[in-house]
This record gives sequence, C-alpha cells and structure tokens, in this order.
Amino acid sequence: MEKLKIGVIFGGMSTENEVSCVSANSVIKNLDRSKYDIYPIYISKIGEWFKVTNIIENKKILIDNIVEVLKSLDVVFPVLHGLYGEDGTIQGFLKLLKIPYVGCGVLASSIGMDKVYTKIVFEKAGINQTKHIYLRKKNDNYIYVDEKFNEKVLELHDITKIIIEKLKFPMFIKPSNSGSSVGISKANNLEELQKAIIEASKYDKKILIEEGIIGREVECAVLGNENVISSCIGEVKSADEFYSYDAKYNNQESKTIIPAEISESKSKEIQELAIKAFKAIDGKGLSRVDFFIEKDTEKVYINEINTLPGFTNISMYPKLFEQIGIPYSLLLDKLIELASV
Ligand SMILES: Nc1ncnc2c1ncn2[C@@H]1O[C@H](COP(=O)(O)OP(=O)(O)O)[C@@H](O)[C@H]1O
Ligand SMILES: [Mg+2]
Repeated sequence: MEKLKIGVIFGGMSTENEVSCVSANSVIKNLDRSKYDIYPIYISKIGEWFKVTNIIENKKILIDNIVEVLKSLDVVFPVLHGLYGEDGTIQGFLKLLKIPYVGCGVLASSIGMDKVYTKIVFEKAGINQTKHIYLRKKNDNYIYVDEKFNEKVLELHDITKIIIEKLKFPMFIKPSNSGSSVGISKANNLEELQKAIIEASKYDKKILIEEGIIGREVECAVLGNENVISSCIGEVKSADEFYSYDAKYNNQESKTIIPAEISESKSKEIQELAIKAFKAIDGKGLSRVDFFIEKDTEKVYINEINTLPGFTNISMYPKLFEQIGIPYSLLLDKLIELASV
C-alpha cells in the first residue's frame, strides 16, 4: 500500500512556539514509518515557513510556495499551540486549500482558544464553571462587559471596584487568548488584582477574571468525530501555587497522577462532562478538557478545553489514552484516520 504523506506543522507565531517544537518532535518520532512518509514543516515566530530536512540537526530550508507544498500532502497534523495554530487560523487555511487535517475545525478551535467565548458556550451547555467577569482594554481605560454584552468604559480603579463587589479573592486574571499560563496571575488582594489586569492586557485586549477554586485539578482526554470516547482522568499536582508556565515546563516537582485517585462516580461525571464540552464547542478529532474538583464541596467545575493539547511523550493527552490501552503510535493512527477537511 502506498504510504500516506503526513505534514507535521509545528513552531508557530505564538508564545508556545518552543512547547510546540517539543510536542512535534514526539509526534514525528512516534508516527509509524511503515504507514507514513513524514514531512515536518516549521513556522518561525515571525511566520516564515520552513521545510525541515533534518529535525535532529535542525536543518531547514525556507519554503517558497507553501500552498504548493501543502497541496502535495495527504493529511496535515498541525502540532501548534496557541494563536495562529490552535485558534482556527491554520485550520481555515487548510480548509480553504481542501487539505484534510487532524483535529478540531475552525469554529471549535476559535472557541477553545478564546477563554471568554469558551465560557459563553459552556454556560449555554449548562456546565458548571467558576464565576467570572469579562473586560476589554481600551487605550488607558477598560471596558466592563456585562452578561448581556452592555459596555461601560471605566478607569482601572473603578473597574476593580466592580470586580471585588462581584467576585471573591483569590481571583485568576487571564488574557482571553492565552495558553501555557502565559500572562495569567493569581490575585489575593486589590493591589495584586490591579497589577494582574495590567499584566494580562499585555497579551490580549480581552481579559477574563475568575473566582479561584480551591481544590484539585483534573483532566480528561477525548477522541473522535461523531463517536467520541473519553480517557481515564488524570490529576496535575503543581509545584507552584498554581499551574504556571514554570510549574508546567520547568519545575520537576510538578507531578501528574494517572489515573487520578478519585471515585468511579466522580470519574464518570467528569468523562461525561468532557464529551459534552467537546460537543458543545463543535469539537472534532481530539481535545483535552480540564476541570477543578472543589475541596470543600467535591463539586466539579470546568476550567477550559484545549483543542491542541501538549503532545510530548510525557504529556497528559497521550498518557491518558495510553493508560486505557491506546499507545501513542496507535493514537496518532486514529487521529489521522479521523482527519477531514
Ligand atoms: N478559577 C481558577 N481557580 C483555581 N486555579 C485556576 C483557576 N483558573 C486557572 N487556574 C490555575 O491557572 C492555571 C492556568 O489557567 P488556564 O485557564 O488553564 O490557562 P492556560 O490556557 O494557559 O492553561 C490552571 O492550570 C490552574 O492551575
Ligand atoms: Mg490550562
């Protein structure tokens, strides 16, 4: 049988370029050579596209005509995290070129990337989530956007007044479009809240402020198009106060526990919610859905959905499926099978 030509696109113009390279390395290593011819394509931080001729030695050639290169492939696997990769832009590009690609389509990718819009969809689906407020930066001021999308322009001082009337500390302040915890801070008081809003606004005009949940952080992987399956549940135990960039990628003290030590009924509840969330955003292919279990109440809160989760050998997504008997290479086969335009 003729081998399928698989393009693996990685790097990208986001804050997660490096993380994507690590993920792609694992994907490329684990793709079954007897089934696929692999074409690694690197996008630099400034958006140049390269054909990678030797991944270990990092040898690459600038691509002159990307459309031509992409059109010569059977399936593209965008192993990109964050903006211009996980947000629907590359998906739109591939769709326009009629090239089948792995994972979520344009809509699900854009919703999943934008934390404000993810919240709107989850709310509509009736999935429990933490109380939150949505702001937009406008020059030196901020626009407070209420639940009905009414807007009010305010100074930082006045906007924080509204926030502390509505939400309890600790709070999490996030750029709406972010990933790998970049630009996210935890605030325990008014001063930290103000600083955190200024920090988040460096990454995105849209800012999400959430009430913090005290409890455990658990994750569930899903796979499928129409018939969606879920993995077992994994728990992350952050070495830091929260799962920051450093805790995720640098601090060896952060741990993942697979399967999470939770009851069977809690596990089932989370698996069902993960599939529901995936369907609610119109997901396809894969996603990792992240939750909190509140310490005092055992209540489950959805945190977010990652439409292109980390894909290194030790990443949660492949490990969760490995645990239920789907090894990494087979998982890649299934994702490629599920790929469509
Ligand atoms: N509402 C919250 N309550 C408690 N911890 C939170 C909350 N929101 C975020 N966190 C912490 O911050 C981390 C990063 O937030 P998250 O929304 O998952 O952003 P990212 O998309 O960058 O992963 C989470 O893994 C968690 O440790
Ligand atoms: Mg997260």
